Amino acid sequence: MAAVASVFGFKHRVGGPVPSRAAQRASRISRGRVHQPLRVVARGLEGRPWVELKDGVPTSGPDLSVTVNGLKFPNPFVIGSGPPGTNYTVMKKAFDEGWGGVIAKTVSLNADLVKNVTPRYAKMKSEDGAEVLGWQNIELISDRSFEVMLAEFKQLKEEYPDRILIASIMDEYKKENWVEVVRRCEEVGVDAFEINFSCPHGMPERKMGAAMGQDCTVLDEVCGWVKEVATVPVWAKMTPNITDITEPANVCLEKGMDGIAAINTIMSIMGVNLDTLAPEPCVEGHSTPGGYSYKAVRPIALAKCMAIAQMIKKEFPDRTLSGIGGIDTGGHAAEFILLGSDTVQVCTGVMIHGYPLVQNLCAELQEFMGKHGFESIAEFKGMSLEYFTTHTDLVARQKEAIEKKKKAKVGIESDDKWTGEGFVAETESMVSNV
Ligand SMILES: Cc1cc2nc3c(=O)[nH]c(=O)nc-3n(C[C@H](O)[C@H](O)[C@H](O)COP(=O)(O)O)c2cc1C
Repeated sequence: MAAVASVFGFKHRVGGPVPSRAAQRASRISRGRVHQPLRVVARGLEGRPWVELKDGVPTSGPDLSVTVNGLKFPNPFVIGSGPPGTNYTVMKKAFDEGWGGVIAKTVSLNADLVKNVTPRYAKMKSEDGAEVLGWQNIELISDRSFEVMLAEFKQLKEEYPDRILIASIMDEYKKENWVEVVRRCEEVGVDAFEINFSCPHGMPERKMGAAMGQDCTVLDEVCGWVKEVATVPVWAKMTPNITDITEPANVCLEKGMDGIAAINTIMSIMGVNLDTLAPEPCVEGHSTPGGYSYKAVRPIALAKCMAIAQMIKKEFPDRTLSGIGGIDTGGHAAEFILLGSDTVQVCTGVMIHGYPLVQNLCAELQEFMGKHGFESIAEFKGMSLEYFTTHTDLVARQKEAIEKKKKAKVGIESDDKWTGEGFVAETESMVSNV
């Protein structure tokens, strides 16, 4: 049986085979915690800490709940818009496994105009091929009918009234379309919106997605249309494919957006096949630049989020940030939160590890909190922002530190400063050839 150690009140599987499902069930029943027919769930990823989640709330360890724009999330881990939120079945799975919230795959009024191709993904692997480092996709927004998606949102909200369901929306540069999308999504009870101003491929050909997110004038107008009708919180999702991400984010916040989500994927070409000379992902011998995600983009995402968080802190302290990009451990989430994120989103990580990953993410975040004695997310949100400064300031700080060190080496100033306690160290401080 796997050894299961208890750390800060939650579990850490340290190797060995997974206990049989029957054994897990018997153990839980004997502890009086299971009364109904048992829904056996996989225990996240082997070798990583995990915690049991009930409706997204960890059954032990520090509190992970966050309230963002008035919405209460049981934990900060939200499914990022993409394949893990494409339909009722997968969104239900996300809620059942304990994700704090779900952002559905981006919808638009006319799905008939959305034509996907296959294959549409390509991986960046480590040298030995064992690990996925980056992921490219040329997937468009949802190709499922708006009406079907609305019916599924309605059903999910009826079955999970207390869980957070966010509609990701995009449409053409027409006010009436945006007004209709917002109204109809609200009618079926979604808790919030995320506007996809950021898909870098396919949609910009129709002047949508990143084409809007890169144009501050259009952004200003579209945010205004949405804000006019929306009665629930709205987040604007930013593209990193721009020189200064704080410029479009600023326009959105000025226009009343409740929060910013960042980042969407980074424009990329995964590579060129040296046998066929065709680029990847290859469709009928051809390709098109796509969006890069997963671990490789995390440092870029952290930098973009830090810049947005600094601006929010200074100019819009009542607004929020949802950090996205390459998160697949609780430690990564802690980094985004330390840099000012209220929630974090995971998309590719779920495609690689599956929905039970959330059990690991929560446990690892709790482990981090336990180590530092944090009892809530609010206690450390944005805590690392103060360590950022300019390069000029780093130079000045370093100069000062070197001068201090030099001074310390000089030893005692005069003979009346010798002390009995520190005598040996004081002697040592005046030796030149240490
Ligand atoms: C296959 C795939 C499809 C995606 N589709 C959408 C989408 O429909 N709408 C959207 O806003 N973002 C979409 N994204 C972007 C993700 O939500 C996320 O912003 C990005 O992948 C970075 O996060 P990650 O590293 O956790 O995947 C998609 C990403 C992938 C990999």
